[in-house]
Amino acid sequence: MAAETDTKGLPVDALDEGAARAEWVRIAARVARANTAYHGEDAPEISDAKYDALKRRLQAIEARFPDLAGADSPTRQVGTAPSETFAKTRHAVRMLSLENAFTAEDIAEFDDRIRRYLNLGPDAPLTYTAEPKIDGLSLSLRYEGGRLTLAATRGDGETGEVVTANARTIADIPKTLTGAPEVLEVRGEVYMSHADFAALNERQAAKGAKTFANPRNAAAGSLRQLDAAITAARPLRFFAYAWGEFSAPLAATQMGAVERLAALGFQTNPLTTLCDGPAELLAVYTRIEQMRATLGYDIDGVVYKVNDLELQRRLGFRSTTPRWAIAHKFPAELAWTRLEAIDIQVGRTGALSPVARLVPVTVGGVVVSNATLHNEDYIAGRSASGEVIRDGKDIRIGDWVQVYRAGDVIPKIADVDLAERPAEAVPYVFPVTCPECGSDALREEGDAVRRCTGGLICPAQAVEKLKHFVSRGAFDIEGLGAKQIEMFFADPLLPIREPADIFSLEARDAGNLTKLKNRDGFGDKSAKNLFQAIEEKRKIPLNRLIFALGIRHVGDTSAALLARHYGSWPAFEGAMTAANVGEGPEWAEFMAIDGVGAVLAASVVNAFHQAAERASIDRLVAELDVQDVAKPRTEGSPVAGKTVVFTGTLEKMTRAEAKARAEALGAKVAGSVSVKTDLVVAGPGAGSKAKDAERLGVELIDEDAWLRLIGG
Ligand code: IVH
Repeated sequence: MAAETDTKGLPVDALDEGAARAEWVRIAARVARANTAYHGEDAPEISDAKYDALKRRLQAIEARFPDLAGADSPTRQVGTAPSETFAKTRHAVRMLSLENAFTAEDIAEFDDRIRRYLNLGPDAPLTYTAEPKIDGLSLSLRYEGGRLTLAATRGDGETGEVVTANARTIADIPKTLTGAPEVLEVRGEVYMSHADFAALNERQAAKGAKTFANPRNAAAGSLRQLDAAITAARPLRFFAYAWGEFSAPLAATQMGAVERLAALGFQTNPLTTLCDGPAELLAVYTRIEQMRATLGYDIDGVVYKVNDLELQRRLGFRSTTPRWAIAHKFPAELAWTRLEAIDIQVGRTGALSPVARLVPVTVGGVVVSNATLHNEDYIAGRSASGEVIRDGKDIRIGDWVQVYRAGDVIPKIADVDLAERPAEAVPYVFPVTCPECGSDALREEGDAVRRCTGGLICPAQAVEKLKHFVSRGAFDIEGLGAKQIEMFFADPLLPIREPADIFSLEARDAGNLTKLKNRDGFGDKSAKNLFQAIEEKRKIPLNRLIFALGIRHVGDTSAALLARHYGSWPAFEGAMTAANVGEGPEWAEFMAIDGVGAVLAASVVNAFHQAAERASIDRLVAELDVQDVAKPRTEGSPVAGKTVVFTGTLEKMTRAEAKARAEALGAKVAGSVSVKTDLVVAGPGAGSKAKDAERLGVELIDEDAWLRLIGG
């Protein structure tokens, strides 16, 4: 440990060979450990930034003392672990996550939103369940004919890993069910109790094996074992709380379904309670929070669900979370530590983000060494709208700061202790040029964020765009993650500088003397796997492509919206090329899409009109086979392909529900009336849109006529 503090802060130039060797050995071991933890996914990894910093330090040492860098150096390894360890399965019904809430206001807003969506008045009865949020990992169990046929982890929600043999070893999981529907997928949480966790760690330590940082990691590491015998020896438990596919419903209510699961032989959480509204939910939350320390297993909040399953069905889902449930998380954890430095990271849209580098501190069981500082105003003690925050205290390098961590969100700096401020600390001066490419970094009127103006010439923006391009919701290329992107971006012989380069990698490799597969870190098999994974993604759904482009303001939801509206790449690309910001019919069509605002529209149109960015998009698309959006199954739908506008107050359903149903029937729902509108559905209080319909000769009907048209 002493040696670590001896050399760590010194410039590499100041090290003699002996000191460099000692530091190299120490860091190489840490990086190797982090690699194993990362790929095994059963132990907390060090942060990406820390990992990168360690690797950079190794590289710097190796640059000065090249003899240290043997073939086994972690700087030369790429994608170490085999990625295909478990078979994959596509979930019949997606496994979703939950929206998080932290305050009583969030819960009132959740209840309000549901009432608005369902058109229920504030006093109409609406019952919820409240139950602990178990801090484990979710598992889906498929039973066919009453027999357990498949167990799968959540994975990315769409595709999970098959762990059937392992799940069979868990005592809480019935292998057969009596009286269950023919097909039933039971979902719940695998976890480990505090007592079992402590005993397991003791056993591990006694035999010199790896110990686990917390019960969740222990549960995950125990379930994801290629050898089910190891899982069998680990004390895992399972609570059932949800379901996926079923051939017959379990019950009419959430509570009824949970009771049915218990009757079928599953463990269900005994604290599950029926509540009549936000006040009762909050009372249960407080009660469960008070019991937290005595439960004997980790929970990180309370989950609220609409009890009536018919209402759950009507409420449906957003892109990754149900509208009918929310996780009320326990409050953030706090700790004090020293702020060592402020680094500026440049994101894919050029945003300069200040990151606090901290003396590592444990906050709620997790070691934190980085925290976000948001933007320059936040550092200066002002909110984005100019109001004073933290009583106006600014944040300086050297300050004693309070770190705040809530759930999975990035830690923040909540406060500064002025009494601990070093005399030499000076106010932080935010850079006005990009630290990566030197271009001007400008702050637009009304924007809290300063942005690099370098565009694709800025290496940081280019790398971040590429990382986004290969990320989960985008191209999601197996074996090509953020770390590999950084390596290829810097590679002089086989570089990836823009997305199109990914798809020419194999062809370029074949013509190159230093073939990928001959490099350290890439064997014949891993090179072949990477090329195959890339090949598989040439065929890409339109929404994923639009999201992957990384255009500012275009998230996965708006990408899906644009894909649904335009249907194909030629239609989308044609419309964006023809559109001019703020004028013309293409702009009007774009703006008429319900859910598209001027900021998003201008950002997309500008991206297509910016020469370098456009050329890069064209080179990419030339490599791809872009899949049109599958039209919803709309045989016999009277409104398929029609553009519909809803206006005024709907009385039988809410606007959001009407929109979702119209879209499911193949209609496009627009926010304003134009010559392209086929039908306007007007409720009481309809104003200018109904008038526009009359003026333009567009068919105008009331809500009852609409319901008759679509069959109720
Ligand atoms: S319901 C469609 N209930 O929390 C919603 N989830 O943050 C299905 N979790 O992925 C989830 N306890 O792994 C539900 N009582 C509970 C839960 C629970 C823990 C986990 C689950 C989910 C995650 C979302």
